[in-house]
Amino acid sequence: MVKRIGILTSGGDSPGMNAAIRAVTRVGINAGLEVFGIYNGYKGMTEGYIEPLTRESVGEIVNRGGTILGSARLPEFKDLDVRQKAVKQLQKRGIEAVVVVGGDGSYRGALALTEMGVNCIGLPGTIDNDITCTDYTIGFQTALETVVECIDKLRDTSNSHHRCSIVEVMGNRCGDLALWSGIACGAEIIVTSETGFDEEEVLGRLRDLDLIKKKRHAIVVISEKITDVDQFAKKVSLNTGFAGRATTLGHIQRGGSPCPFDRLLASQMGEKAVDLLMQGIGGQCIAIRNNKIVAIPITEALGMPHESRKPLMNLFERLV
Ligand code: F6P
Repeated sequence: MVKRIGILTSGGDSPGMNAAIRAVTRVGINAGLEVFGIYNGYKGMTEGYIEPLTRESVGEIVNRGGTILGSARLPEFKDLDVRQKAVKQLQKRGIEAVVVVGGDGSYRGALALTEMGVNCIGLPGTIDNDITCTDYTIGFQTALETVVECIDKLRDTSNSHHRCSIVEVMGNRCGDLALWSGIACGAEIIVTSETGFDEEEVLGRLRDLDLIKKKRHAIVVISEKITDVDQFAKKVSLNTGFAGRATTLGHIQRGGSPCPFDRLLASQMGEKAVDLLMQGIGGQCIAIRNNKIVAIPITEALGMPHESRKPLMNLFERLV
């Protein structure tokens, strides 16, 4: 039976990663395992930056944002020689299996390691909610709360000045943060990769909101990587009755204390990951589907298409 497991966090950090580290460590230790923290993602794995974790060393972190293990992106991990180096570091310490908390790029690394004989289980740690096999990723709900708080504040000042606030939110080509926050904040327009962006059409809708609906302000929530929001704000000022102002929320969305949902999700997923590793199972990722914590083969998870958000988009249109 497996005796020593490792845990790492990889890619962009997300609130709740610490709760996952705590869960894996404590569930593991309580089941008689030794648990090791691998620092700075796959980079630390190849460099051998690996230390034992104890019940105490993961104390006082369930409520903390970020990740005590640090995170990194290592595109070179797709190279076999880099991975071989990493596997050697694990073997040197007798670490037979690893929990990887990160996005789908990190899952590819986890799959490759499993194929090299190190069982890995992936946990979905990203604010983007862009891992298609799970209804929610660890960190999404906390980031959503942050975005909603920021947009509520922008609304106050937009309303005082007859302005249009264009708010760029993260998501890495996934529109969930924009869509969820836009509905929750009562935005006037939401733009995501799924809705598409027709600049002239959006400007026309803003003119209608000003001239026909007599709105005092307008909020446009737009996913990152779609357009230059500063340039677009200038066009709003030139072509509509609103003064346009762009706000890019940026990395503020990734910080902060995880909300209870993310802490619970991370704890449940961490528990499931340890249970699978103890049964000698690897190459799977953990998901929440219809309120149940389940395991899915990574090969299957990576190929799943993104669920259409049409129903939520329709709801939004009916609320405007
Ligand atoms: O994947 C999380 C994320 O925050 C994305 O939303 C964003 O596009 C990206 O990471 C930013 O990456 P970095 O922190 O490396 O600038």
